Amino acid sequence: MKALPKGGWTRPASDEPESSCVDGAPVMDMKAQNWSSTALNPVGLIIRQKDPNNLEMPFDQLSDFITPSELFYIRSHFPVPELDPAAFRLSIRGAVRNQLSLRYSDIRAMPSRTCFATLECAGNSRVFLSPSAPGAQWELGAVGNAEWTGVPLSVLLESAGLADGVCDIVLEGADRGVPTEEPKPPGRISYARSIPRTRAMEPDVLIAYQMNGQDLTPDHGYPLRAIVPGYYGMSSVKWLTDIVAATQPFQGYWQTSDYGYWDDSEGIPIRRPLAEMKLKSQIARPRVYERLQPGRPYTIFGVAWAGDTDVTEIWISLNGGASWVRGVFIDPIRPHAWRRWKYDWITPVQPGRYTLLARATGADQRTQPDGHNPNFGSYVIDYPLPIEVFVGAP
Ligand code: MTE
Repeated sequence: MKALPKGGWTRPASDEPESSCVDGAPVMDMKAQNWSSTALNPVGLIIRQKDPNNLEMPFDQLSDFITPSELFYIRSHFPVPELDPAAFRLSIRGAVRNQLSLRYSDIRAMPSRTCFATLECAGNSRVFLSPSAPGAQWELGAVGNAEWTGVPLSVLLESAGLADGVCDIVLEGADRGVPTEEPKPPGRISYARSIPRTRAMEPDVLIAYQMNGQDLTPDHGYPLRAIVPGYYGMSSVKWLTDIVAATQPFQGYWQTSDYGYWDDSEGIPIRRPLAEMKLKSQIARPRVYERLQPGRPYTIFGVAWAGDTDVTEIWISLNGGASWVRGVFIDPIRPHAWRRWKYDWITPVQPGRYTLLARATGADQRTQPDGHNPNFGSYVIDYPLPIEVFVGAP
């Protein structure tokens, strides 16, 4: 692993060469023209897909530690199922001693727990991949940080009584449909993911009914959803109706065909489910291709988060990775939540095109990688993302 702050991150060879100075009007590439040029929904989320709703936050609007629920990205594979809370049942079955069928009101009557969790969609920032990868071209806004309230999953599993051989807990939602990506399963399927038993027993893994102090909205999983802090968002199953204790590793579509990656087992590639979020930082402001005044104070602002470690350092490069300066955290360390950070910059006097980068370090001393690992396909875009800005008059 490369030592910081020396940097050494270089743009992929296929990207445009960096110019620190432009004569006349800068030539923007296609991605510049397309950047955030898509339609917005009524509250200002960028529409990636309309039916079902797949919406992302314009990330330059980031301000508070908590993402307001109406600005929190939405990632749904199938239409929102209509669930009547009066008729709703959460079933807990499989390799358990007592099967449970709980009403929504039973869950609401149980002692609750509230915790922060940053959820990032595993495909967040896909637009940065070069060459382009298939799938929704998420920019920076398929990530958010919220306060979630619900019942710990461990409490439900303890009252059901897990059998000895249980290794996975399968979480299944009420939504159904045919996935769009190949290889397609033979017919309509539900959205289901598993988490390891040890993870499921952690106290912050919630069966949640509130987000930021309000009941979940239909798009975010009403009436109940799982929240698996530290894991990519795909594990936090919405419209949760079934919890199944499994004695064999679960091999469902959403963790083999999709949301999987290639690992190496003694030289043999094997498919594994994506799980913990990787360490990552993002610059919220300036936004890509923003034009800044030369020789002026400008506060670069962003966030950094990690799956199972804490973010302890943030480094900023103002010159495409040639050198790095240290940023300052705004938020303290809170488990599984992002930390906002800033860097007070005096913009260059010299007009031109500049590439800004942010790179985080974790408590485990790891830092973000130099580039994208192709074994993750179109997911896990965790390298320092180039934010190109213009300084000076067009
Ligand atoms: N749960 C169900 N039932 N169906 C889904 O399509 N999408 C997953 C996860 N849970 C999904 C789901 C993915 S890929 C992500 S990133 C998160 O929900 C997004 O949660 P949000 O829409 O509340 O932001």
